[in-house]
Amino acid sequence: MIRLQNIEKVYRTDTVETLAINGISLDVAKGEFLSIMGPSGCGKSTLLNIMGLLDEPSKGNIKIDEQDISRFSDQKLAKFRNQKLGFIFQSYHLINDLRVLDNVELPLLYRNSSAKERKILATAALEKVGLSNRLKHFPTQLSGGQRQRVAIARAIVGNPQIILADEPTGNLDSAMGNEIMDILINLNKNEGTTIVMVTHDESMAHKTHRLVRLFDGSQFNNQKLC
Ligand SMILES: Nc1ncnc2c1ncn2[C@@H]1O[C@H](COP(=O)(O)OP(=O)(O)O)[C@@H](O)[C@H]1O
Ligand SMILES: [Mg+2]
Repeated sequence: MIRLQNIEKVYRTDTVETLAINGISLDVAKGEFLSIMGPSGCGKSTLLNIMGLLDEPSKGNIKIDEQDISRFSDQKLAKFRNQKLGFIFQSYHLINDLRVLDNVELPLLYRNSSAKERKILATAALEKVGLSNRLKHFPTQLSGGQRQRVAIARAIVGNPQIILADEPTGNLDSAMGNEIMDILINLNKNEGTTIVMVTHDESMAHKTHRLVRLFDGSQFNNQKLC
């Protein structure tokens, strides 16, 4: 589903050059749940952003669902990203002055759905994450775990084949973290969604199919878990 070939990423400022990703090749199969671990600053977010087409590699090749995205125009890339990929971040990235339902509808605004259709789809996504009773709340009126569930609803509302999650349980206590993890596991199992998750938590990683460990921008371990 995702194929990275010899990916390099160099960040340049006036004085410093950082090699954030140093020659990574990685395949993620359709329906796989992959976790990525590694020390802070080793390139996990950079790699996830490259997979999610939010950032371009300095070198190397990316294929998503067998399509070579390097040939895509910016417009085609934006559409592709909107339809194929859902993102979840550690700090939720919700818009605080929009109600829960409106936050979840956001990805659909870039499609040609009617207001009625958007509402139906967003309500269904919120039902899947167990938040049907919070549609009219604002994010600031919710707990961390509930906010992350809204973020998951927003990520899945467009029915993406791939979900990329950057430390989705990083700001949550273990009970709330486990709830989030259960939602992701069910999405993977029941809908066949391919998931790549960065985590600091060994116990979360060990609930996934495979664990890739990064160190200083390189992959040094690739462990099949089940
Ligand atoms: N926009 C940027 N500009 C310059 N350096 C960056 C930028 N983003 C990340 N880096 C550097 O790239 C390396 C990898 O960062 P990151 O992918 O965020 O690591 P991780 O998510 O594993 O903590 C770090 O050394 C970081 O300082
Ligand atoms: Mg990071």
